[in-house]
Amino acid sequence: MSNHEEHQGTRRDFIYYATAGAGAVVAGAAVWPLVNQMNPSADVQAQASIRVDVSTVEVGTQLTVLWQGKPVFIRARTEEEIAQARAVDVSELVDPVAENSNIAGDAPATDENRALSEDGVWLVQMGICTHLGCVPLGEAGDFGGWYCPCHGSHYDTAGRIRKGPAPRNLDVPVAAFIDDTTIQLG
Ligand code: FES
Repeated sequence: MSNHEEHQGTRRDFIYYATAGAGAVVAGAAVWPLVNQMNPSADVQAQASIRVDVSTVEVGTQLTVLWQGKPVFIRARTEEEIAQARAVDVSELVDPVAENSNIAGDAPATDENRALSEDGVWLVQMGICTHLGCVPLGEAGDFGGWYCPCHGSHYDTAGRIRKGPAPRNLDVPVAAFIDDTTIQLG
């Protein structure tokens, strides 16, 4: 077995070495650049999947968490926000695709296809404007959802782009409730 294969097979050990200090990897110094490139850093691995306690998130508020180095908006929407989002005709949308990683294919961008929970209360999406990557502001903009002040993109209460230069709806990451009050991302 080459050093490279050995390192791939013992990723946990590798992380241990990396955090234990330079002394532990002296023997493997020659393969370090290759191994280092092929393994995600320890902190990225640690966040490949995270669990978020949403028990304290009240209706009408948003929790922002960092996942894989990026902000994720977890919002408990009001009845009004849900009704507003559900009243929209999908054919009027700039991006008619749900952009939901939990649904295979190009599902239509209905509110039902973007919300995490069937009752529509929970909406989980990447907090990254699809134009050039700024973090949009919540409860803002012409459609009462999110507004990106960088170049003026307005998203509705389902996170769908309605006005401005952003080409796509906010991305919905892989997410699921694993119990009544815990959402797993990734
Ligand atoms: S980055 Fe959001 S509008 Fe340009």
